[in-house]
Amino acid sequence: MPDYTVKNLEPADFDDLMYLEEEVFGAEGETTLGPYYVRLCCDFFGRHCFLALADGRPVGYLLSFVREREAYCTTLAVVPEFQGTRCVHLLLRAFVSAIADEVDSCWFTVKEDNKAARALHASLGATEMGVRRGFYGPEDERIVSKIDAAAFDKLRARYERLGLIKPKPKAKPVSVISPAILPAPSGLGVVEASA
Ligand SMILES: CC(C)(COP(=O)(O)OP(=O)(O)OC[C@H]1O[C@@H](n2cnc3c(N)ncnc32)[C@H](O)[C@@H]1OP(=O)(O)O)[C@@H](O)C(=O)NCCC(=O)NCCS
Repeated sequence: MPDYTVKNLEPADFDDLMYLEEEVFGAEGETTLGPYYVRLCCDFFGRHCFLALADGRPVGYLLSFVREREAYCTTLAVVPEFQGTRCVHLLLRAFVSAIADEVDSCWFTVKEDNKAARALHASLGATEMGVRRGFYGPEDERIVSKIDAAAFDKLRARYERLGLIKPKPKAKPVSVISPAILPAPSGLGVVEASA
Protein backbone atom coordinates (compact mmCIF):
# COMPACT_ATOMS: atom_id res chain seq x y z
CA MET A 1 0.00 0.00 0.00
CA PRO A 2 1.45 3.41 -0.87
CA ASP A 3 2.44 5.85 1.80
CA TYR A 4 0.02 8.78 1.44
CA THR A 5 0.66 12.37 2.43
CA VAL A 6 -1.93 15.11 2.16
CA LYS A 7 -0.70 18.69 2.28
CA ASN A 8 -2.02 22.20 1.76
CA LEU A 9 -1.38 23.60 -1.68
CA GLU A 10 1.53 25.99 -2.02
CA PRO A 11 3.00 28.00 -4.90
CA ALA A 12 5.45 25.22 -5.85
CA ASP A 13 2.54 22.80 -6.47
CA PHE A 14 1.34 24.67 -9.59
CA ASP A 15 2.91 22.24 -12.10
CA ASP A 16 1.58 19.19 -10.24
CA LEU A 17 -1.93 20.64 -10.26
CA MET A 18 -1.82 21.43 -13.97
CA TYR A 19 -0.56 17.89 -14.62
CA LEU A 20 -3.30 16.31 -12.47
CA GLU A 21 -6.01 18.33 -14.22
CA GLU A 22 -4.85 16.83 -17.52
CA GLU A 23 -4.53 13.31 -16.07
CA VAL A 24 -8.01 13.27 -14.55
CA PHE A 25 -10.23 15.62 -16.57
CA GLY A 26 -8.25 16.19 -19.79
CA ALA A 27 -7.88 12.44 -20.33
CA GLU A 28 -11.69 12.11 -20.14
CA GLY A 29 -12.14 14.81 -22.80
CA GLU A 30 -13.40 17.28 -20.21
CA THR A 31 -12.36 20.90 -19.94
CA THR A 32 -9.54 21.59 -17.52
CA LEU A 33 -8.88 24.45 -15.15
CA GLY A 34 -6.85 27.31 -16.59
CA PRO A 35 -3.51 28.46 -15.19
CA TYR A 36 -4.94 31.63 -13.60
CA TYR A 37 -7.37 29.65 -11.49
CA VAL A 38 -4.75 27.06 -10.53
CA ARG A 39 -2.24 29.77 -9.66
CA LEU A 40 -4.80 31.44 -7.38
CA CYS A 41 -5.49 28.14 -5.61
CA CYS A 42 -1.77 27.49 -5.08
CA ASP A 43 -0.77 31.02 -4.08
CA PHE A 44 -3.82 32.41 -2.33
CA PHE A 45 -6.26 29.70 -1.28
CA GLY A 46 -3.89 26.95 -0.14
CA ARG A 47 -5.36 26.88 3.35
CA HIS A 48 -8.47 25.13 2.00
CA CYS A 49 -6.96 23.35 -1.03
CA PHE A 50 -5.08 20.05 -0.76
CA LEU A 51 -2.73 17.83 -2.70
CA ALA A 52 -2.40 14.07 -2.07
CA LEU A 53 0.93 12.37 -2.70
CA ALA A 54 1.43 8.60 -2.88
CA ASP A 55 5.05 7.76 -2.10
CA GLY A 56 5.82 11.36 -3.03
CA ARG A 57 3.97 11.27 -6.36
CA PRO A 58 0.99 13.66 -6.87
CA VAL A 59 -2.17 11.58 -7.28
CA GLY A 60 -5.15 13.61 -6.07
CA TYR A 61 -6.37 17.04 -5.03
CA LEU A 62 -9.27 18.92 -3.56
CA LEU A 63 -10.01 22.58 -4.21
CA SER A 64 -12.32 24.65 -2.06
CA PHE A 65 -13.15 28.20 -1.11
CA VAL A 66 -14.48 29.62 2.11
CA ARG A 67 -16.62 32.73 2.32
CA GLU A 68 -17.90 33.86 5.69
CA ARG A 69 -19.37 30.72 7.30
CA GLU A 70 -19.74 28.68 4.09
CA ALA A 71 -17.37 26.44 2.17
CA TYR A 72 -17.66 25.51 -1.49
CA CYS A 73 -15.75 22.44 -2.60
CA THR A 74 -15.24 22.95 -6.33
CA THR A 75 -13.00 20.02 -7.29
CA LEU A 76 -12.20 16.61 -5.89
CA ALA A 77 -10.11 14.36 -8.11
CA VAL A 78 -7.91 11.27 -7.92
CA VAL A 79 -5.97 9.81 -10.86
CA PRO A 80 -7.61 6.57 -12.10
CA GLU A 81 -4.82 4.33 -10.81
CA PHE A 82 -5.48 5.51 -7.24
CA GLN A 83 -9.28 5.62 -7.37
CA GLY A 84 -11.05 3.23 -5.04
CA THR A 85 -8.26 3.59 -2.48
CA ARG A 86 -7.93 5.53 0.78
CA CYS A 87 -6.66 8.51 -1.15
CA VAL A 88 -10.04 10.22 -1.61
CA HIS A 89 -10.92 9.70 2.05
CA LEU A 90 -7.64 11.25 3.18
CA LEU A 91 -8.30 14.29 1.02
CA LEU A 92 -11.80 14.66 2.46
CA ARG A 93 -10.46 14.21 5.97
CA ALA A 94 -7.94 17.04 5.47
CA PHE A 95 -10.66 19.24 4.01
CA VAL A 96 -13.24 18.64 6.75
CA SER A 97 -10.59 19.11 9.46
CA ALA A 98 -9.58 22.45 7.92
CA ILE A 99 -13.10 23.85 7.68
CA ALA A 100 -14.65 22.30 10.82
CA ASP A 101 -14.15 25.40 12.98
CA GLU A 102 -14.62 27.94 10.22
CA VAL A 103 -17.92 27.19 8.53
CA ASP A 104 -21.44 25.97 9.27
CA SER A 105 -22.23 24.55 5.84
CA CYS A 106 -20.60 23.30 2.68
CA TRP A 107 -21.65 23.23 -0.99
CA PHE A 108 -20.75 20.82 -3.80
CA THR A 109 -21.68 20.59 -7.46
CA VAL A 110 -21.61 17.37 -9.40
CA LYS A 111 -22.74 15.85 -12.69
CA GLU A 112 -25.77 13.60 -12.49
CA ASP A 113 -23.87 10.54 -13.75
CA ASN A 114 -20.98 10.90 -11.28
CA LYS A 115 -22.10 8.23 -8.84
CA ALA A 116 -18.82 8.05 -6.89
CA ALA A 117 -18.74 11.80 -6.16
CA ARG A 118 -22.45 11.85 -5.26
CA ALA A 119 -21.92 8.91 -2.89
CA LEU A 120 -19.01 10.71 -1.24
CA HIS A 121 -20.99 13.93 -0.79
CA ALA A 122 -23.88 11.95 0.70
CA SER A 123 -21.49 10.15 3.07
CA LEU A 124 -20.51 13.56 4.45
CA GLY A 125 -24.17 14.40 5.05
CA ALA A 126 -24.87 16.50 1.95
CA THR A 127 -28.39 16.70 0.58
CA GLU A 128 -29.05 17.28 -3.10
CA MET A 129 -30.89 20.61 -3.37
CA GLY A 130 -31.58 20.86 -7.10
CA VAL A 131 -30.09 21.19 -10.56
CA ARG A 132 -28.35 24.27 -12.01
CA ARG A 133 -28.66 24.42 -15.80
CA GLY A 134 -26.07 26.22 -17.94
CA PHE A 135 -23.59 26.01 -15.06
CA TYR A 136 -20.28 25.83 -17.00
CA GLY A 137 -21.84 26.50 -20.41
CA PRO A 138 -25.16 26.25 -22.26
CA GLU A 139 -25.30 22.43 -22.24
CA ASP A 140 -23.88 21.92 -18.75
CA GLU A 141 -26.03 20.76 -15.84
CA ARG A 142 -24.89 20.25 -12.25
CA ILE A 143 -26.58 18.89 -9.19
CA VAL A 144 -26.04 21.26 -6.29
CA SER A 145 -25.76 19.65 -2.88
CA LYS A 146 -25.23 21.07 0.55
CA ILE A 147 -24.14 19.92 4.00
CA ASP A 148 -26.49 22.18 5.95
CA ALA A 149 -25.84 23.40 9.49
CA ALA A 150 -27.49 20.41 11.21
CA ALA A 151 -25.64 17.89 9.04
CA PHE A 152 -22.40 19.82 9.45
CA ASP A 153 -22.77 19.63 13.24
CA LYS A 154 -23.12 15.84 12.96
CA LEU A 155 -20.11 15.62 10.68
CA ARG A 156 -18.09 17.74 13.09
CA ALA A 157 -19.17 15.55 16.01
CA ARG A 158 -18.10 12.43 14.08
CA TYR A 159 -14.67 13.98 13.50
CA GLU A 160 -14.42 14.83 17.19
CA ARG A 161 -15.30 11.25 18.19
CA LEU A 162 -12.64 9.94 15.82
CA GLY A 163 -10.12 12.31 17.41
CA LEU A 164 -9.49 14.03 14.09
CA ILE A 165 -10.34 17.48 15.42
CA LYS A 166 -10.37 19.05 18.86
CA PRO A 167 -13.73 19.42 20.63
CA LYS A 168 -15.38 22.81 20.23
CA PRO A 169 -14.53 25.06 23.17
CA LYS A 170 -17.54 25.15 25.49
CA ALA A 171 -19.38 28.50 25.61
CA LYS A 172 -18.53 30.40 28.81
CA PRO A 173 -21.44 30.43 31.28
CA VAL A 174 -23.24 33.78 31.27
CA SER A 175 -22.83 35.44 34.66
CA VAL A 176 -26.12 36.13 36.41
CA ILE A 177 -26.64 39.74 37.41
CA SER A 178 -28.93 40.59 40.27
CA PRO A 179 -32.17 42.20 38.95
CA ALA A 180 -31.70 44.99 41.51
CA ILE A 181 -28.76 46.42 39.57
CA LEU A 182 -30.24 45.99 36.09
CA PRO A 183 -31.23 49.25 34.41
CA ALA A 184 -34.96 49.68 33.72
CA PRO A 185 -35.87 48.50 30.19
CA SER A 186 -35.67 51.50 27.90
CA GLY A 187 -39.00 53.09 27.03
CA LEU A 188 -40.85 51.48 29.92
CA GLY A 189 -39.68 53.65 32.80
CA VAL A 190 -39.94 52.60 36.42
CA VAL A 191 -43.37 52.24 37.95
CA GLU A 192 -43.23 53.44 41.52
CA ALA A 193 -45.24 51.44 44.01
CA SER A 194 -47.89 53.71 45.59
CA ALA A 195 -47.93 53.96 49.38
C1 LIG B 1 -14.83 11.42 -7.61
C2 LIG B 1 -13.57 10.71 -7.20
C3 LIG B 1 -12.62 11.69 -6.54
C4 LIG B 1 -13.94 9.63 -6.18
O1 LIG B 1 -12.79 8.97 -5.77
P1 LIG B 1 -12.71 7.38 -5.88
O2 LIG B 1 -11.43 6.95 -5.34
O3 LIG B 1 -13.05 6.99 -7.27
O4 LIG B 1 -13.89 7.00 -4.90
P2 LIG B 1 -14.29 5.53 -4.45
O5 LIG B 1 -14.04 4.53 -5.52
O6 LIG B 1 -13.64 5.30 -3.12
O7 LIG B 1 -15.83 5.70 -4.28
C5 LIG B 1 -16.34 6.61 -3.34
C6 LIG B 1 -17.64 6.06 -2.82
O8 LIG B 1 -18.57 6.04 -3.89
C7 LIG B 1 -19.07 4.74 -4.07
N1 LIG B 1 -19.24 4.51 -5.50
C8 LIG B 1 -18.28 4.45 -6.42
N2 LIG B 1 -18.82 4.23 -7.63
C9 LIG B 1 -20.16 4.14 -7.42
C10 LIG B 1 -21.26 3.89 -8.27
N3 LIG B 1 -21.10 3.70 -9.59
N4 LIG B 1 -22.49 3.87 -7.73
C11 LIG B 1 -22.67 4.09 -6.41
N5 LIG B 1 -21.66 4.32 -5.55
C12 LIG B 1 -20.42 4.34 -6.07
C13 LIG B 1 -18.04 3.81 -3.49
O9 LIG B 1 -18.61 2.61 -3.04
C14 LIG B 1 -17.49 4.62 -2.35
O10 LIG B 1 -18.28 4.52 -1.19
P3 LIG B 1 -17.71 3.77 0.10
O11 LIG B 1 -16.47 4.54 0.50
O12 LIG B 1 -18.83 3.89 1.07
O13 LIG B 1 -17.40 2.39 -0.36
C15 LIG B 1 -12.84 10.03 -8.41
O14 LIG B 1 -13.69 9.05 -8.95
C16 LIG B 1 -12.43 11.00 -9.48
O15 LIG B 1 -11.37 11.60 -9.39
N6 LIG B 1 -13.24 11.15 -10.53
C17 LIG B 1 -12.91 12.04 -11.61
C18 LIG B 1 -13.01 13.49 -11.20
C19 LIG B 1 -14.40 13.84 -10.73
O16 LIG B 1 -15.37 13.49 -11.38
N7 LIG B 1 -14.49 14.56 -9.60
C20 LIG B 1 -15.76 14.92 -8.98
C21 LIG B 1 -16.29 16.22 -9.44
S1 LIG B 1 -15.20 17.58 -9.22
